[in-house]
Amino acid sequence: MASDSVTVRAPAKVNLQLSVGPLGEDGYHELGTVFHAVSLFDEVTVRTSDEPGVHLTMSGENSETLPVDDTNLAMRAARALAAHAGVEPAITMHVRKNIPIAGGMAGGSADAAAVLVACDALWRLDTPKDQLDAIAATLGSDVPFALHGGTAIGVGRGERLTPVLARGTYSWVFALAEGGLPTPAVYRECDRLREGRHVPAPHVSELLMQSLRAGDPMLLGKALSNDLQVAAVSLRSGLGRVLAVAEDLGALGAIVSGSGPTCALLARDPEHALDLAVSLTSADVCRTVKRADGPVPGARVVG
Ligand code: C5P
Repeated sequence: MASDSVTVRAPAKVNLQLSVGPLGEDGYHELGTVFHAVSLFDEVTVRTSDEPGVHLTMSGENSETLPVDDTNLAMRAARALAAHAGVEPAITMHVRKNIPIAGGMAGGSADAAAVLVACDALWRLDTPKDQLDAIAATLGSDVPFALHGGTAIGVGRGERLTPVLARGTYSWVFALAEGGLPTPAVYRECDRLREGRHVPAPHVSELLMQSLRAGDPMLLGKALSNDLQVAAVSLRSGLGRVLAVAEDLGALGAIVSGSGPTCALLARDPEHALDLAVSLTSADVCRTVKRADGPVPGARVVG
């Protein structure tokens, strides 16, 4: 008998590097990025229902600001898998949000990945991984990575992944901002700031790869980079203060996470992360502070 309820959790990500190439004709930028999954998780429970269709509810900080209709990526994920498998869905889905909303940590993508894994299990589809990846890529550039987790290079729109063999566990502190930043607006601002300049093809830094192979947080701190950072700071000047304070407090490195406005601070170890989190809270430059470790696996069934 098929289980009538499946719970899946999926991680947030930070881009250890986000190298943004020129704007393509399809409206997307060619990327060279290094994704890193961290231990902030959204949790999705899907249940079979007597009612046909897909019904979504959400809980967690600020989740009331999100739509629960077909524009929600979680809904689109359920419908995409159902269409692929020829299933007539009759399910309810509940998303417990813990990843900051519109925070540059791919929370929506995590929810979509979690729904794909949960529905695949609920409907006993056993969809081959490459097919699940292909469906994920139609939903958003970061969704395939949320399925895989770990540390991975992403090229193309960010959806074409190669795992990175990284040594060690890294301790992070995340500075969460008031409100979110829409990703398209940050890419537009990046284009505006670069107007008239030659934009080179994206590349992945050898120093970054070296630091991951060595499992060296000091080196990793120096290698962190994000081409969207200037644009995010231009739209939210407060982020400049967060990054300056992070440096003063002795973070090994600090960057805007993805398109922001969350900032990621790298610590030496868990104790240092706790110190940084306490000092950052006292500095009163962000809404709240969260600690997390990486890398962690992608979307997985729990319980
Ligand atoms: O793929 P996704 O829907 O997550 O992308 C959201 C937006 O981010 C896109 O509409 C586009 O404006 C921008 N984007 C981009 N280049 C990428 C990925 C995303 O310009 N490689």
